[in-house]
Amino acid sequence: MKQRILVTGGTGFIGSHTVVELQNSGYEVVIVDNLSNSKADAVDHIEQITGIRPAFEEVDCCDYAAMDAVFAKYPGIQGIIHFAASKAVGESVQKPLMYYRNNLVSLINILELMPKHGVKGIIFSSSCTVYGQPDILPVTEQAPIKKAESPYGNTKQINEEIVRDTVASGSPIQAILLRYFNPIGAHPTALIGELPNGVPQNLIPFLTQTAIGIREKLSVFGDDYNTPDGSCIRDYIYVVDLAKAHVVAMERILQDKQKEKVEVFNIGTGRGLSVLELIHAFESATGVKLNYQITGRRAGDIEQVWADPSFANNELGWKADTPIEDTLRSAWKWQLHLRETGVQ
Ligand code: UD1
Repeated sequence: MKQRILVTGGTGFIGSHTVVELQNSGYEVVIVDNLSNSKADAVDHIEQITGIRPAFEEVDCCDYAAMDAVFAKYPGIQGIIHFAASKAVGESVQKPLMYYRNNLVSLINILELMPKHGVKGIIFSSSCTVYGQPDILPVTEQAPIKKAESPYGNTKQINEEIVRDTVASGSPIQAILLRYFNPIGAHPTALIGELPNGVPQNLIPFLTQTAIGIREKLSVFGDDYNTPDGSCIRDYIYVVDLAKAHVVAMERILQDKQKEKVEVFNIGTGRGLSVLELIHAFESATGVKLNYQITGRRAGDIEQVWADPSFANNELGWKADTPIEDTLRSAWKWQLHLRETGVQ
């Protein structure tokens, strides 16, 4: 019998790609999403890609009774991948209570419901934002946690602590915290991808929207950082590689391969790319010229961060190895698809 996995935020960017990989690996998936930053037709597109329609419940994870009912409706859920969260750094500064309520209450509800419904393990979407500006690069999982730069970042730190404290208190659950670096790109079919509301805040959607003419110019936020070309450095990871990390992490939980009840993994490529390098890689991968200009720094930006992913590589037997050119071509194909289908 197929093992049943609950994916919160499963119609979103990373969630939808992960549902595809879970189904391709033989899991049965139940999606819970309140559609606050995604569309229900992601379920159709997942079905088009995999030939399997995941169950979908339009539910807010902050609604304890509704979540309880989901577990009752789908008995035997063995694992949860908890993506559902608000994730816009700037918005979190404007609306901190909304971020604390949404990101914290949803996790608390799930952790309370897991033992009640016999769910064995949870994978939590954390972020490299917990490291702030690391003193040593590439950053390992042992690096100190720095004070969060935003309420959004703080919710990731607090949620990591909530998971640890819950397990330490004797809850029967197991957990894996995945610290994502910068997920980009789209599924090779271009049926699912990143669909930001309004003006994109993240680099790649803004870049592809500029390339296609929706935005006039891409701003490069600063060229006076202490990096080789002066622009910020990040570890950009292909979203499909990232999705696959969840499948191996879930197997690790379900097959009792964990060495500790809470484990943390950096999920990145191990390669840092500057904003300017990324722009040039996009231009050479797609043949499309980008209109960009250097502007001032963006408040709250980290100068440079990239992962040491060796713990994930060795322990999970997983590696992000998609070349950046392929990743950027997938993002471009997705943007073209959005135009062809009249979405953007
Ligand atoms: C941020 C968060 C990260 C979160 C992610 C998703 C921090 C430190 N990082 O990542 O935790 O998971 O958002 O929302 O809180 N850039 C430009 N021009 C643009 C947009 C971005 O030059 O128009 C630059 C930025 O300065 C940065 C890089 O591109 O150097 C990547 O930015 P972005 O895609 O917004 O991601 P992060 O800020 O790294």
